[in-house]
Amino acid sequence: MERIVILTGAGISAESGLATFRAADGLWENHRVEDVASPEGFARDPALVQRFYNDRRRAAAAARPNVAHEALARLQRDYPGEVTIVTQNVDALHEAAGAEVLHMHGAVNSALCAACGHRWPAPEQMQPGEACPACQAPKARPDIVWFGEMPYYIDEIERKLSNCSYFVSIGTSGNVYPAAGFFRLADSVGAHTLELNLEASHSASQFAEARQGSATELVPAWVDDMLAEVS
Ligand code: APR
Repeated sequence: MERIVILTGAGISAESGLATFRAADGLWENHRVEDVASPEGFARDPALVQRFYNDRRRAAAAARPNVAHEALARLQRDYPGEVTIVTQNVDALHEAAGAEVLHMHGAVNSALCAACGHRWPAPEQMQPGEACPACQAPKARPDIVWFGEMPYYIDEIERKLSNCSYFVSIGTSGNVYPAAGFFRLADSVGAHTLELNLEASHSASQFAEARQGSATELVPAWVDDMLAEVS
C-alpha cells in the first residue's frame, strides 16, 4: 500500500478550458505578474487586480472537471492507502469531481479580508474597496496567495511529503517554489517520483519516471494501474 501525494498545476485544468500561465497564450503572456498577482500590484491598482480575478472566477465557474480530475477523485475514494491531493490551481474542479484538495495558492471562489483575516465565499465579481462582512473594513481581496506571500498548508504538505512512498506531479511546469521542490523532499525519503505532463518539465530527468502526454490521457490510465495493483 502506498501513501500517495499528488501535486497538480494548471495543466490538469487546461482540457477543461482554463488558461495555463506559461504557454504561448498563457495568462502571463497578457499580464505582468507583478501587476496582477502581487500585494504591491493590488495596492497600486486594486481595480486591475479585481478585474483579473473576476475574469478567472467567471471562467472557473463555467468550467467542468475533466476525466483527469475525476480519476484523481476515484483514486482518493477507492485506493486503500492515503491519497493527498495538493493543488497550485485556484479553480474548484478537483472539488467538483468529488475530491478533497489542499489549495496551496488559495481559491478564486473565496474572498479574504486583508484587515481581519475573515474568509467568505467570493461573489463572482469583486469590486475595489469592497467591505468585509465581518469587520466592515474596505479591505476585501481575492483569497489568492500572491508572489511574495506564504503559500497555505505548507507545514501539513511537508509532513505528508516526508511520510509518502509515492509522489506524482501532474500538469505543472515546476517553475514556482515551494511546489517545484516537493519532488526532491519525496525523493529524499525514498518515495517513487512520477511526472505526468504534456511536455517534460526541466526537472523531469530528476524524477524516477516521467511520462509525456495530456492529463486526460495519462491520469486515468495511471489511476487504473494503481487501483489494479491493490484489487
Ligand atoms: N495535460 C497535461 N499537462 C499540460 C496540459 C495538458 N492538457 N496542458 C499544459 N500542460 C502542462 C504544460 O506543459 C506546463 O508544463 O502544464 C504545465 C503548466 O505550467 P504553468 O502554466 O507554468 O502552470 P503551473 O505550473 O501550474 O504554474 C504554477 O505559477 O504563476 C504561478 O501561481 C501560479 O499556480 C501557478 C504557479
